Amino acid sequence: MAFAELILVVLSMAIVINPCLSQRHHQQLYPNFYRRSCPRFDQIMQDTTTNKQIVSPTTAAATLRLFFHDCFVGGCDASMLISSTPFNKAERDADINLSLPGDGFDVVIRAKTALELACPGVVSCADILAVATRNLVVQTGGPFYAVKLGRKDALVSKAGSVEGNLPRPAMSMDQILKIFLSRGFSIQETVALSGAHTIGFSHCKEFSSNIYNYSRGSQSDPAYYPQFAQALRNACANYHQNPTLSVFNDVMTPNKFDNMYYQNLPKGLGLLASDHALNLDPRTRPFVEQYAKNQTAFFEAFGRAMEKLSTYGIKTGRSGEIRRRCDAFNN
Ligand code: HEM
Ligand SMILES: *[C@@H]1O[C@H](CO)[C@@H](O)[C@H](O)[C@H]1NC(C)=O
Ligand SMILES: *[C@@H]1O[C@H](CO)[C@@H](O)[C@H](O)[C@H]1NC(C)=O
Ligand SMILES: *[C@@H]1O[C@H](CO)[C@@H](O)[C@H](O)[C@H]1NC(C)=O
Repeated sequence: MAFAELILVVLSMAIVINPCLSQRHHQQLYPNFYRRSCPRFDQIMQDTTTNKQIVSPTTAAATLRLFFHDCFVGGCDASMLISSTPFNKAERDADINLSLPGDGFDVVIRAKTALELACPGVVSCADILAVATRNLVVQTGGPFYAVKLGRKDALVSKAGSVEGNLPRPAMSMDQILKIFLSRGFSIQETVALSGAHTIGFSHCKEFSSNIYNYSRGSQSDPAYYPQFAQALRNACANYHQNPTLSVFNDVMTPNKFDNMYYQNLPKGLGLLASDHALNLDPRTRPFVEQYAKNQTAFFEAFGRAMEKLSTYGIKTGRSGEIRRRCDAFNN
């Protein structure tokens, strides 16, 4: 009798405690989560990311940045994929303005459409975004890393929660490190993740204050190699009239996931002020130097840090849902 009561108490405690536990810990992700429920998951993901990247080579960078932003604003829970409605301004519409190009959203929607046909109501948008990102990193030449599965999709997405959660190029290194360290990422992991800027591009307004009228004595920030700054001024000459003008983050090998980003920095070929800052700050420079010299070291560090990023703030159990469409809540 007493024993049965004890079991009841323990059970009800577990039920009460469990939702909190599932938010705090990351243990509820599994390597082969969809093996039974969606056996073709890996194949469908692979086909979708490969086809999309071939047709639109900007997809990899777009998706990687989208994933980073999704994860850093309240966890890797696909909250960044929600479209605003007349009743709710969602995260993606706060997102540092123009940015977040459509290809990142599009690859997720394509995969979701194919997966809903194969195994309806089973695969979360958060898992799709995490795996699409990994596949696209590999497809552009970057390292493979394991992505555990079983994330649920967020039940909220508010534009107001974005500010302060994402790094911006004009932030000091103190401010940038605070954003990463407060989420449990080390300085080394911060530098490794920033190596994502080995692919993709930035709009002129993100670095214009560093190349035009920088100071009384100089058009550009002295951290920029002078001819590079001049080339950027030429490329961006018309950016006020044409705000879509943009420049590759890694001018040397823009579409290849490699360690060239780090090699560029000491040569003054970084694009954003925050890129230069990684090479100027004594806390981050040693890692820049290491990754510039040794691509294997960068790939290992990037893969580990991405694996960690992929579990950040995930929702499981009743703290989320499996969305029917990735851009809208079920209710
Ligand atoms: C360290 C602080 C960081 C700052 C200040 C920063 C800032 C930016 C800015 C301003 C852009 C250009 C956006 C645009 O003009 O459209 C950009 C692009 C990009 N960022 Fe970052 N970022 C940081 C870290 C990261 C991290 C950790 C990742 C991923 C792990 C990442 C991935 C990307 C990618 C892939 C692009 C290119 C996007 C595209 O081509 O569509 N960034 N970043
Ligand atoms: C960008 O953000 C600024 C300030 O947050 C805002 O005034 C402006 O309207 C935004 N631009 C676009 C295109 O959303
Ligand atoms: C730079 O400053 C000068 C003088 O203040 C101004 O005329 C010019 O328009 C500025 N150029 C840019 C690109 O902002
Ligand atoms: C490069 O980094 C890898 C991984 O950390 C390490 O095993 C290797 O010894 C390094 N190579 C050199 C030349 O330092």
